[in-house]
Amino acid sequence: MSTVVSDTTRRPGPFGPGTPRLVTDLPGPKARAIIERDRRVVSPSYTRDYPLVIARGEGAMVEDVDGNVFLDCTAGIAVNATGHSHPDVVQAVIDQSRRFLHMSGTDFYYEPQVRLAEELSAVAPMAGPHRSFFGNSGTEANEAALKLARYHTKRPSLIAFFGAFHGRTMGSLAATASKVVQRKGFAPMLPGVHHAPYPDPYRWKGSPEACAAESIRFIEEQLFVHVLPPDEVAAVIVEPIQGEGGYIVPPDAFLQELRALTRRHGIVLIVDEVQSGMGRTGRMFAVEHTGVEPDIVTIGKGIASGLPLGVATARSEIMAWPPGAHASTFGGNPVACAAALTTIRLLREALTANAAEVGAHLKAGLEALKEKHPLIGDVRGRGLMIGLELVRDRQTKERATSERNALVQECFRRGLLVLGAGRNAVRLSPPLVLTRQQADTAIEVLDDALAAIGA
Ligand SMILES: Cc1ncc(COP(=O)(O)O)c(C=O)c1O
Repeated sequence: MSTVVSDTTRRPGPFGPGTPRLVTDLPGPKARAIIERDRRVVSPSYTRDYPLVIARGEGAMVEDVDGNVFLDCTAGIAVNATGHSHPDVVQAVIDQSRRFLHMSGTDFYYEPQVRLAEELSAVAPMAGPHRSFFGNSGTEANEAALKLARYHTKRPSLIAFFGAFHGRTMGSLAATASKVVQRKGFAPMLPGVHHAPYPDPYRWKGSPEACAAESIRFIEEQLFVHVLPPDEVAAVIVEPIQGEGGYIVPPDAFLQELRALTRRHGIVLIVDEVQSGMGRTGRMFAVEHTGVEPDIVTIGKGIASGLPLGVATARSEIMAWPPGAHASTFGGNPVACAAALTTIRLLREALTANAAEVGAHLKAGLEALKEKHPLIGDVRGRGLMIGLELVRDRQTKERATSERNALVQECFRRGLLVLGAGRNAVRLSPPLVLTRQQADTAIEVLDDALAAIGA
């Protein structure tokens, strides 16, 4: 079934229909000058893979300060769900900004925050009633969820998964087990956090079902037997598709069995949908593909199309903590709430369906590329959350990390923005307004870039 995407959502605009246009060497002179200034005054802890200095964006296209136009398959790390500067979102931001910019929902009331909690309740992936806590980022959403789980269960410990990324504040960081550089020098972590293997069907030697069972078995037969009494576990926190870890899609049975396990032991199940949520996988939340209902869902990135917002939505019975227990001055800022309300409307009208439809088209095109380029070991994902895992040898699955890094650069040089994920995967997380034509352009550029690396 083809999806009708409204004119305001899918317009060619001054950037043209979606073809990259490079007018200088990269980086151009203006970009170089800004990067030089950045080096002197901005924290060197950021990881910039290539020298993109954005001047403006529209839909899935981005123009840099030197006038080069790129096709954006990053969406600012899976954030610009409705595309860059969607006119309806911009209008909502302007309208709300004229009324008031801030009043702190922690100490006062305003209707946009209430309405957003109502909307989230309407789309939450578990039966209601629900309540929502508002922060400013994904890590704050997870921090809130972890604290809430401890408060609710009166238990201290947590289970997370190897490869997981939940954020960088100390609680979320303790659950994060993605790259060692993210933890190095910051110990001690929060005590009581244990990690289990995340089922990776591509790398697991047996059947996909077996890798899900193995992960669950590790929790039950290793953790619960040797180190961690289950009745001391407050929560299991899990990404339904591992994002930073490499866009790994576990078998559906994994979340289903995890749900059963957490129910058996009275453990809260937190599903981190910060990257996979808000329409990206062709459903509002990725967990919906599995039929599992979590106790708490954490949301960030795409929810407000680029304005900072993080939310933990829980079953009301769980979110029953007293005034003063948790809050954030800026959390649920009214302008971000207005952007989120418009984003949810656009997602429900057309963009979630567009992510499913164009995502399937893009994935099929990438699978065809796999036939041609032996460097591609695996193509995986749901909707517009697609990963390519690169390997030196399909038999041994040796990780092609330097080739992955080179591919990201080659794409940039050809006007396509992509990012790495995990040790040797490339992720495609474009705005959900991506058209079939733009998806074809992305495939063509990747084909060309892979050929250059192969050569
Ligand atoms: C799954 C997941 N959770 C949490 C976070 C942290 O979000 P933020 O960077 O907004 O704190 C991220 C960020 O990449 C993420 O992918």
